[in-house]
Amino acid sequence: MSVLVTGGAGFIGSNFVLDWLAASDELVINLDKLTYAGNTENLQSLQGDPRHVFVPGDFGDSALVANLLAKHQPRAVINFAAESHVDRSIHGPEDFIQTNIVGTFHLLEAVRAYWGGLQDSARQDFRLLHVSTDEVYGSLAKDDPAFTETHRYEPNSPYSASKAASDHLVRAYHHTYGLPVLTTNCSNNYGPYHFPEKLIPLMIVNALAGKPLPVYGDGQQIRDWLYVKDHCSAIRRVLEAGRVGEVYNIGGWNEKPNLEIVHTVCALLDELRARTDGKSYREQITYVTDRPGHDRRYAIDASKIERELGWKPAETFETGIRKTVLWYLDNQSWVANVQSGAYREWVEKNYAGRAA
Ligand code: NAD
Ligand code: DAU
Repeated sequence: MSVLVTGGAGFIGSNFVLDWLAASDELVINLDKLTYAGNTENLQSLQGDPRHVFVPGDFGDSALVANLLAKHQPRAVINFAAESHVDRSIHGPEDFIQTNIVGTFHLLEAVRAYWGGLQDSARQDFRLLHVSTDEVYGSLAKDDPAFTETHRYEPNSPYSASKAASDHLVRAYHHTYGLPVLTTNCSNNYGPYHFPEKLIPLMIVNALAGKPLPVYGDGQQIRDWLYVKDHCSAIRRVLEAGRVGEVYNIGGWNEKPNLEIVHTVCALLDELRARTDGKSYREQITYVTDRPGHDRRYAIDASKIERELGWKPAETFETGIRKTVLWYLDNQSWVANVQSGAYREWVEKNYAGRAA
């Protein structure tokens, strides 16, 4: 038995592969294009492990995917591969259209052909699990109820629009061709191996480097935060018992304004790695021009996955964020290695001239 994972060298994908192989001996075929966000160092502990087959390549390369499917005969495909950063989608939407929409389409075609050729019982058992985001539902006002699975799609950024399009394609392949799909829409993840272009790792890394902590706008935008290992356990549960064709929202019941997140990170660093001048890392907070089209609030109603599949997050925000800050303190060489010239160019592009 095996599963094919796409994007398994990225933040969530690599956590998923590591957790999967910690709990099971089932072979993982890991197909990742190794864009700037893909990092084989995340998978270093699996070096020489015959249960992990890493394949550098594009999930939109139908011939490559067809070959992998034919060779390994996986019982499931779990699709993490995507361009994932909203700010990058604002600076350059084209990669998002190509990867998230066209790439997903090619993957669906290859998977449909493979699934169509399976014997009865393998055909019945097969699943394609598509990993998506709460951002497809758009933005909530302060007192609106949290997003349920039936909330209408109102994506506001090129990133969320491209993810919404991929969700629609996945849905259509189920309704039209009967492809046994599952879709998950999750809130903001945080934890080990999070690329430091995203809020939490950026704040940790900048704080330790004595750099400004750039808060967009008034810092009162709200996100729901979920520790990445909880996202991975939810995906495993949906794959195991989710009803074919269904959508499951995944969230941490942890709505917090960005500024509170930044204050929490500063307080943990003050405790665990105090500044040499005795001042708080909060001194480094800088308000910068807001993200264009910035969604004000996301909130996930995760009661369906709890009711139907018995899944609940194991971490509170307090336990998860402490683990995360400790991980970054203990893995400074990982941080140094991902801060390549390309990373520095991105930081310059996104933050230059933005001081509010
Ligand atoms: P990430 O940017 O860290 O990783 C994406 C991975 O996909 C990288 O390893 C990259 O090399 C790979 N990739 C990109 N294009 C590819 C291609 N054409 N073929 C094969 N591999 C390719 O992203 P992440 O944060 O780990 O997110 C993973 C998935 O989860 C995405 O689909 C994202 O939309 C979704 N998601 C993310 C979050 C979050 O908070 N990070 C929350 C909900 C959903
Ligand atoms: O909600 C799920 C989504 O969460 C995923 O689908 C995306 O892939 C993932 O990147 C994430 O999107 P966000 O835009 O919410 O995450 P990000 O870490 O970029 O930003 C979180 C919040 O922090 C957002 O309101 C913008 C703000 N922010 C971000 C950065 C990078 C800042 O204030 N300053 C910053 O420097």
